[in-house]
Amino acid sequence: MSPSLATAAVTKHLQSVITAKGRDALSTSVLPALLDGIVAVAVALRAAHHVALAGGTNAFGDDQLNVDVTAEHLIREALARCPTVATASSEEDPVERTVSPPATSSSSSEVYTVAFDPLDGSSIIAPNWTVGTIAGIWDGATALGSRPADAQVASVLGVYGPRTTAIVALRVPGHQQPVCLDLGYTEPSSANNNNGSWDIVHENVRLSSGTPKTRYFAPANARAAADDNNYRDLILHYITNKYTLRYSGGLVPDLVHMLVKAHGIYLSPVTAASKAKLRRLYELCPVALVLECAGGKAVDAATFASVLDTPLADTDERGGLICGTAEEVDKAVAWLGKTEAN
Ligand SMILES: *[C@@H]1O[C@H](CO)[C@@H](O)[C@H](O)[C@H]1NC(C)=O
Repeated sequence: MSPSLATAAVTKHLQSVITAKGRDALSTSVLPALLDGIVAVAVALRAAHHVALAGGTNAFGDDQLNVDVTAEHLIREALARCPTVATASSEEDPVERTVSPPATSSSSSEVYTVAFDPLDGSSIIAPNWTVGTIAGIWDGATALGSRPADAQVASVLGVYGPRTTAIVALRVPGHQQPVCLDLGYTEPSSANNNNGSWDIVHENVRLSSGTPKTRYFAPANARAAADDNNYRDLILHYITNKYTLRYSGGLVPDLVHMLVKAHGIYLSPVTAASKAKLRRLYELCPVALVLECAGGKAVDAATFASVLDTPLADTDERGGLICGTAEEVDKAVAWLGKTEAN
């Protein structure tokens, strides 16, 4: 087994911030494996000059791209090296399947489930825009049935753009301080004898409170504004108040933009004509943990309840999303919840 590309510094930092007992495998095995998987996907994408339909559909009926299939395979391969990952499922194969049988040596009591979207952003990958991987790490042998706020202990966003970066969020029970880290990957180079490594770019990613000079908005599914007056009025409010539009159509880069700029609001509303599209298990729960660990909020676009409050009953649950800086989320909820709209 090749050594993980997560540098000693990253692993050491993870160990220092996870103060809860009995979580060694999280910082030394599961998170490093996911970071390795993200590097493998980044390398594969760089070499994939033809993005084509693979000819199949996933269990949800979405067309699969060749790169979706490759990314799915690479992340699973990375997880297979983790004895504490009991179960994994993904948007491409949304059935919780055994990865590692329960440990025979009881040196570790850690048991995790990983739920991931191997390659998010299929619609913008052909023009080579930035896309991402989304993964949530859950306590136990299933992600279903328990409250995500309690059971999902970590999540990772891999970002494939001109640079390869990753956001890691951690909120381990019994561990007081939620953590949101920004990591950067340095590609191998013979010049400085580097085999490729992850380093910490920011130890403490935080959305700002108060009103910053520049405010950003990302209105997903803007077509829904044609038949939802509240959404149309809200978008108009942002324009009138000179917010800056930053929207690429990729959930991962759009959210990472707000984390890096410390401000933003992302809206993916649900209307009668446009159904909820985002999967709770593979997209909404992991990104909600990232937002919350960075001091922001993430709520369901229909009920306005916290995304992480309601247990999942199955892997196909979907929803809309309003997330970002807490003040902006509250304001958006007030606009979208107005009753006089049709
Ligand atoms: C896609 O963009 C990356 C930089 O973001 C670049 O390294 C790569 O060569 C591009 N691929 C193609 C096929 O143009």
